Formats: sequence, structure tokens, C-alpha cells
Amino acid sequence: MGIEALKTIGVLGAGQMGGGIAQVVAQGGRRVLLADLDLARAERGRDLVAKGLAKLVEKGKLDAPSRDAALARIVPVAGMEAFAEADFAIEAATENLELKRKLMRGLDQACREGVTIASNTSSISITLLAAETSRPQHVVGMHFMNPVPVMKLVEVVRHPGSDPAAVALAVALADKLGKTPIVVADAPGFASSRLGLALGLEAMRMVEQGVASAADIDTAMKLGYGHPMGPLELTDLVGLDVRLGIADYLTSAIGPAFAPPEILRAKVADGKLGKKSGEGFYTWTADGKKR
Ligand code: CAA
Repeated sequence: MGIEALKTIGVLGAGQMGGGIAQVVAQGGRRVLLADLDLARAERGRDLVAKGLAKLVEKGKLDAPSRDAALARIVPVAGMEAFAEADFAIEAATENLELKRKLMRGLDQACREGVTIASNTSSISITLLAAETSRPQHVVGMHFMNPVPVMKLVEVVRHPGSDPAAVALAVALADKLGKTPIVVADAPGFASSRLGLALGLEAMRMVEQGVASAADIDTAMKLGYGHPMGPLELTDLVGLDVRLGIADYLTSAIGPAFAPPEILRAKVADGKLGKKSGEGFYTWTADGKKR
């Protein structure tokens, strides 16, 4: 199947990442089946996309008819059964190994033979996920970055059994979405999560040890290294729970260098998940501003 045949994309998971992926796919002119556990969640995902598109219209970066057309291309659906109509599927659920394994089995059942299934996992082995399906050669990683509409990178992950055509298709799709794809081997944390987390976890350990405040550590990386955002503010943006999930996985896959600091575990246990919960390493106002 070539890129021209990809008319309908199934996106499983209507949260921060799935919603962002749905937005860029719809803006790129393709139809999206946006699935979550139930219709209400899937509709909430589309509402979030509507807000994102409205902002672009406000800023004069998108006209109203294009906004309406993009939004109309997103069809919220309850569950992945509707993916029988999909020409390509992207799984963007919570970063949890057992959940993703289960969803891979479901997607394999739901999608037509020959359809490529991509996982937006930020760290989990694609080989492992592919092994849950009857089509491992058609399973790849497609790791988008947060916020999806803004960040240009997509890591396309190939595993030893990937069909080069499936990898090429994911690369072509990322390209069509205006992203810059890189192809990465199936190593734990791929390229971006492994490096990003190394910095994030060390910054947390430094807060724990009283080396400097979260704000000053972030300023060090912003002004000293030219990063657009410091590692702790970024952790708040991505979600402390998401980073903890990746750290636990990388600890088991690579070793203790990725062991999550106690401060991270404690904050997650307290429900301090970052921007989405109103508090992480910073506190956030309801309209998403850092206090
Ligand atoms: N959705 C859509 N657009 C957004 C956005 C969002 N969530 N957040 C910011 N933007 C847009 C803004 O509207 C603004 O657009 P204009 O230039 O058109 O006005 C632009 O992005 C810049 O935003 P701001 O001026 O508000 O602030 P900024 O210059 O600090 O940029 C940022 C914000 C783009 C998020 C920037 O700080 C940045 O690049 N941060 C680093 C992000 C990063 O490292 N992401 C990777 C996370 S790790 C990951 O995703 C892996 C994983 O699996 C966990």
C-alpha cells in the first residue's frame, strides 16, 4: 500500500498525543477515526482539537473554512472496531506495557490484512508489541513529540522483522504531515526519550539534593544551552506519570542509570502530574499558565 492509498487513519487514544496526531492528520487532508474507550472520551479529544484549531484561526494562521474542514474529517468512535475502515492505524494510548500489548492484539483483529499498525510509544520495544500481532512485519513505531502540532520530529522505529515497505510508509506519512522523520532501531527509549529522560531525571535528582531550585535549573538549560524549555518545565508539560512510566521501563531495559528519583515517584503518588493536574515541579493556572 502506497501513501496515496492512506485516506483514512485510525488513531487509538484521544488524549494529549492522540488528539495532536488527529489534528495534524486532519489538517493534512486525511480522514481520522479517533477512538477511545467510549464515545464521550473520543468526542472530548475532538473538542480539544477544535480548541487548538480555533487558536490558529485567532492568530490568522488558518482560515475558518480550513478549520471547519479539518474538524469535519475527525470522526470520534467508541473503540477500535471501526478501524476496519482504516488504511493505517496509530496507537496513542497511555504508556503502559500491558495496556499496549492488549491494544496491539485488538488492533490486529480490527484492522484489515496488510494495514500497517504504528505505536506512538515513547520507549516500549516495538519488537515486543509486534509479537502480539499476526502481522509483525507491518508493525512499526511512530513516536510523535509533544506538543504534536508544533514539534517537527517523528521517530520511526523499525524492528528486526519490520518490512522495509512498512517503515517507508510511516516515513512517507510523517513527511506528508509536515514532520521530519528519523529512522531509529528498536533500542529502549529509541533516540529522543533515552536522551531526554537522562537530562530530566538528573534535573530531578538535583532538585532533590538542593543543588538549585527547579526554576533555576530550567534557566540554566534555557540560557546556558539554548533549550526552548528547561527539563523540569518539560516534565510538567509531558506529564510526571508519563516520565515515570518511561523511567521504570528504561530501568528494567537498560539499568539503574534510569532509576526514577524518589521526588518523581512521590509527586505522582500525590497526583501531582504536571500541567494537566495543575501541579508538578511548578503550579499551573486552569488556563495553562505557569505560576
Ligand atoms: N499546541 C499547539 N500549539 C502550541 C502548543 C500546543 N500545546 N504549545 C505552544 N504552541 C505554539 C504556540 O501557540 C506558539 O505558536 P506561534 O509561534 O504561532 O504563536 C508556539 O507554539 C510557541 O509557543 P509559545 O510562544 O507559547 O512558547 P515557546 O516559544 O516557549 O514554545 C514550545 C512552546 C513549542 C512548547 C517550546 O517551549 C518547546 O519547544 N519546548 C520543548 C518541547 C519538547 O521538548 N517536546 C518534547 C517533549 S518529550 C516528548 O514528547 C517525548 C515523549 O514521548 C514523552
